[in-house]
Amino acid sequence: MAPRTTYVCDQCGSVQPKWAGQCPDCQAWNSLTEQLQPALKSRAGGFAGTRSAQVEDLAAVPADRAPRQSSGLAELDRVLGGGIVAGSVVLIGGDPGIGKSTLLLQVLVAQARTAKVLYVSGEESLGQIAARAGRMDADVAGVRCVAETDVDAILATAAQERPQLLVIDSIQTCYTGELTAAPGSVSQVRESAARLTRFAKQQGISVFLIGHVTKEGGIAGPRILEHMVDAVLYFEGDGGGRLRILRGIKNRFGAINEIGVFAMTDRGLREVPNPSALFLSGAETDRPGSAIMVTREGTRPLLVEVQALVDGSPLSNPRRVAVGVEQNRLALLLAVLHRHGGLSMADQDVFVNVVGGIRVNETAADLPTVLAVASSLRDRPLPARTISFGEIGLAGEIRPVSQGEERLKEAAAHGFRQALVPKANGPKKRRFGELEIIPIERLSDALEALSR
Ligand code: TYD
Ligand code: MG
Repeated sequence: MAPRTTYVCDQCGSVQPKWAGQCPDCQAWNSLTEQLQPALKSRAGGFAGTRSAQVEDLAAVPADRAPRQSSGLAELDRVLGGGIVAGSVVLIGGDPGIGKSTLLLQVLVAQARTAKVLYVSGEESLGQIAARAGRMDADVAGVRCVAETDVDAILATAAQERPQLLVIDSIQTCYTGELTAAPGSVSQVRESAARLTRFAKQQGISVFLIGHVTKEGGIAGPRILEHMVDAVLYFEGDGGGRLRILRGIKNRFGAINEIGVFAMTDRGLREVPNPSALFLSGAETDRPGSAIMVTREGTRPLLVEVQALVDGSPLSNPRRVAVGVEQNRLALLLAVLHRHGGLSMADQDVFVNVVGGIRVNETAADLPTVLAVASSLRDRPLPARTISFGEIGLAGEIRPVSQGEERLKEAAAHGFRQALVPKANGPKKRRFGELEIIPIERLSDALEALSR
């Protein structure tokens, strides 16, 4: 049976049997592009082969032990769950210019010492890559590279070179001549990634795919590749700053939400093994409106500063601006502050910012956020060398958060003296090394601690 052509929407990823000017599912115009549909007969043979699969007792199946290899960058290893798994496909997404090519060039350089590696670039010429390596002062001996975008040619080259690590920079530049759609379109990206993934699994090669994030925030429009690959990592920056955070979004071989922290220097990316020190550097906590919190990124506790500025508003509808914490959460906290703390900000603009470009997505930030806001409103600094964390409920109660002890340990290790924490998170003896624990049960307790 001949391959059948179907059409896929660039916007929503839906598959249509016929071409149309407008996608019937999401109503986007001119978004349908053709994709190859494997003939039904060949589809019947899945990854497991054409024979009918054997039913087995799961207890009798030996578990796959994924052999791992260090990438040469401990921060990347952490996000991957302990290193690169042979035969795995990892997608690294991020804005253009964030440092994806730099990161993977460093991995290639480290791997080339012990393994065969191949770097396929569709974005830059080999001369440009060599110039970058020169700027980084990297020893690129053994890093095999080719400038190619035709995925079938890439596979032929890889079959010849037989690398253990293959880097594709980027998946958006890859295309197959069997499709008429332009490179970068959903159908080309999907088909190229599918071929590369199949190849990786068959040959046991580890593959890194670089993907640009589109303005909507997904890799190549809809998140079409995420189900295909073993791990998805996002590389993010702090808007103009030097800090880079690598975040695991999906990982078949490890935990997600781990982060790796790097700093972009003029000689490539430098690992930051102790990010708390970096996020806190320059923090002047004796100013009104500043609070230090202990947040958690994956398994790692992080000390970060949250700042608030509360100022009389000329607007009838005062502004609430939250950077690094959720806007709705801020509105909720201001309502609780009013109702249970007696602090009204109805005629005040409220700005909240988490320093260092980090985004805090956990409720442990509630208490420090509220303390920073109250501190700015009253124009009184928080007690020196004090940290806090805790969730605030709508009734004004302070709720415990996970991993309290790890957070306290991190604060103690960085020389903090006082911790305002939910009662249930505090150890019984009310001390943690040099750190004095002040248990907080209600919002009013926290505000009282502020006025001491
Ligand atoms: P790059 O890795 O090319 O980004 P991506 O592949 O994600 O598009 O990084 C580009 C930026 O990094 C560029 O603006 C220059 C900067 N850079 C440095 O600051 N120091 C360096 O050593 C290198 C190689 C790049
Ligand atoms: Mg690049």
